[in-house]
Amino acid sequence: MIAGGQFTLGGLLAYRGYGRYFYGPIDDLVGLNDLLQRAEASGRRIFEVLDAPVTVLERPDAVPLPQPVTGEIVFENVTFGYDPAQPVLRGLNLRVRPGERVALLGASGAGKSTLIGLLTRVYDPQSGRVTLDGHDVRDLTLPSLRRAAAVMPQDTFLFYDTVLENVRYARPDATPQEVDLALERAGAASFVAGLPQGLDTIVGERGVKLSGGQRQRLAIARVLLADPAVLLLDEPTSAVDAESEALIVRALEEAMEGRSALIVTHRLSLARSADRVVVLEGGVIVEDGPPAALRSRGGRYAALERAQTPGLPEQV
Ligand SMILES: Nc1ncnc2c1ncn2[C@@H]1O[C@H](COP(=O)(O)OP(=O)(O)O)[C@@H](O)[C@H]1O
Ligand SMILES: [Mg+2]
Repeated sequence: MIAGGQFTLGGLLAYRGYGRYFYGPIDDLVGLNDLLQRAEASGRRIFEVLDAPVTVLERPDAVPLPQPVTGEIVFENVTFGYDPAQPVLRGLNLRVRPGERVALLGASGAGKSTLIGLLTRVYDPQSGRVTLDGHDVRDLTLPSLRRAAAVMPQDTFLFYDTVLENVRYARPDATPQEVDLALERAGAASFVAGLPQGLDTIVGERGVKLSGGQRQRLAIARVLLADPAVLLLDEPTSAVDAESEALIVRALEEAMEGRSALIVTHRLSLARSADRVVVLEGGVIVEDGPPAALRSRGGRYAALERAQTPGLPEQV
């Protein structure tokens, strides 16, 4: 048409331009629908979690755990299963004395994390009881229980916030000086000082990425700040490379000083320095004793010694 003089080149360009103005918003509208659908699906999942019934409730007559806490933990004939028909723990008995350090070994799925969840009341046993300083944990207020018994998981979650706030999360009224001291004792002070803004560096999701070992050292600083009577470590070095493991173990020793500690671990270094090693199998404790005594007994602990000591023949 342009060649024939019936239309101009300018007209054609303008037509194409207007076309784009027209189709752009239509594309956006189609995309918006897609976005809404996805938001709806995600929203449904979020509300599923928010609306989930609370299974562990504080009793109306719950009392705060009396201070000071000595940290004596007793599992008395505890039976528990996520499905009550299939118990994970079957009449388990375990006593941790005040200030004692107990390493908990057991195959994956044996119920080690479950045991920790029962003490901190993430779940309640179907029968038997769990006591802290002689009080059934179900009779205690949840904040007092969870202030007394802190859990350090295998991979620590960091919020998208500064190092300072991430550590202070353990005790929001701590001063920056107290946070500094905790970082120092956790062996984290030097790497924090090397971050672009030091204590004020944003870490966590989308923030500065920290290694597994660095995250665990921040978690240890949290523990030191919270100063709980009971420390529960759930495979604290499993997300850590071999190089930082020695650092973490040293910081953990510092963190466990003067507290009762239950340590779930596959690492010989942590198990060997414990006062006692217990082995969980089939829902009950099958080995229990000081590491030196268990070494010669030929059980699971002895196998761990063999597997992780260079020079000893590996046999199970
Ligand atoms: N939230 C849960 N719901 C149902 N079953 C679970 C849940 N958590 C763990 N289990 C099951 O309970 C058993 C013990 O799990 P866990 O305590 O995590 O073992 P461990 O820490 O020793 O590896 C496993 O068989 C596991 O599959
Ligand atoms: Mg576990």
